[in-house]
Amino acid sequence: MRVRLLAKLILFYIAIGVATASASSPLEEIRAEAEETARLLAKLLDAGRLVIEHNQAVIDDPHRGDKGFTADAFEQQLRQEFRRKTGLDLAAIGVNSRTFAVPPLARELLPALIEASKEVVQDAQVVINQRGIGYKNFIPATYGSQAAARFSKRTHVQLKQTALQPRNPKNEPDDYERSVLQWLSGRPRGEAYISELTESGKFLRVIMPIYYLPECLACHGKPAGEWDISGYPREGANEGDLAGAISVRIPLRGQ
Ligand code: HEC
Repeated sequence: MRVRLLAKLILFYIAIGVATASASSPLEEIRAEAEETARLLAKLLDAGRLVIEHNQAVIDDPHRGDKGFTADAFEQQLRQEFRRKTGLDLAAIGVNSRTFAVPPLARELLPALIEASKEVVQDAQVVINQRGIGYKNFIPATYGSQAAARFSKRTHVQLKQTALQPRNPKNEPDDYERSVLQWLSGRPRGEAYISELTESGKFLRVIMPIYYLPECLACHGKPAGEWDISGYPREGANEGDLAGAISVRIPLRGQ
């Protein structure tokens, strides 16, 4: 199991750029491209979760009908949030552009995830714009599950949210995800992600941990076992505890 810390990651990132000119093996290049793509997909899903989180009060406002939180408004905020997290401008990474920092596989897949994410927000408009209802169950987790599922159906990449004890059984970890989550839960929080070749090197799996922020604790915090607004018992978590992870599984090219 390999953990790359941020500093290492930046070095690695530069290495992708020079890989074509240097003597790294084709397999290493394929892996590097898949790893960077997986990392960016996880960041994009996480950025979308944050955008929903930032708009939660508006979405749950029972006094307003039309919230103006359209798919286009969401996309604009998503691009800003992704840029804040990665320094990358999604507008500049079309499939045909030759951006140094973004590998071709990511240029193909990031727009597919944006499309899937926008469709989720589009389909939720009736719910979002309903007057007279506060909590609507359109929250970062439901958004994330739906966007990831749509994207996974259309591409050869599996993207999902998972947790050791998920509220939603669809987010149940597989054996690999469970073992990584268990390993992460015994360690202090860090800007790390796990990246590993599995199934005889046919797939690259990347797990990006998610940690609880103060605003998550209204539902996932204390007192443990007491019902939250979404109708689930609270986990009793503290700020900074491991909440779960975004998991990506990419078949390596040529396999
Ligand atoms: C309004 C209550 C609420 C808030 C606030 C909330 N969650 Fe959740 N969370 C839920 C519900 C409900 C689910 C299950 C959603 C579903 O049915 O897919 C969930 C699911 C999850 C999951 C997926 C695994 C699972 O249990 O199915 C993760 C990870 C997660 N939440 C993390 C967070 C983090 C991190 C935050 C803060 C940024 C947060 N949640 C804020 C209610 C909440």
